Amino acid sequence: MSEKAVLEQAIEGGRVAVALEGKEVVGYLRWEWLWDHIPLCVFVRVRPPHQRTGVGRALYARVEADLTRRGCEFWLSSTEETNDRSLRFHRALGFRLIGALSDLGQDSREIFMRKDLAQ
Ligand SMILES: CC(C)(COP(=O)(O)OP(=O)(O)OC[C@H]1O[C@@H](n2cnc3c(N)ncnc32)[C@H](O)[C@@H]1OP(=O)(O)O)[C@@H](O)C(=O)NCCC(=O)NCCS
Repeated sequence: MSEKAVLEQAIEGGRVAVALEGKEVVGYLRWEWLWDHIPLCVFVRVRPPHQRTGVGRALYARVEADLTRRGCEFWLSSTEETNDRSLRFHRALGFRLIGALSDLGQDSREIFMRKDLAQ
């Protein structure tokens, strides 16, 4: 499937959150279902000039409110072990490390994190 088709499908399924400042897209997040029932954040990016201004936190808060409405008790996110900024970000948002995968064809291990959602 093309990247465009993947994104279109995610938008249709309500699995994309976009942060706007006026008409400018300053960040977005896409999540997918792991094993059909566990939400996993697969992509998050905030444009550099807007980083560290609360955009990432707002994107996660928006998605977490939606997941809570859908009845999810927790969700997952992941990042490369060397991405210190992302690890700090996730920790600040209340995620805890639950494991790591290696041999994924990338330079460092992929760290998986879990956050319990308020019911
Ligand atoms: C990781 C990323 C999404 C964070 O988004 P952001 O909008 O900059 O984060 P926020 O401003 O919402 O920060 C929320 C909290 O996370 C922590 N944090 C965020 N960036 C941080 C940094 N560079 N250093 C230390 N802590 C940081 C802080 O505790 C921050 O709260 P504070 O600013 O009140 O102290 C953003 O840096 C990014 O797009 N990075 C490049 C892509 C990437 O690495 N994505 C993740 C892996 S796929």
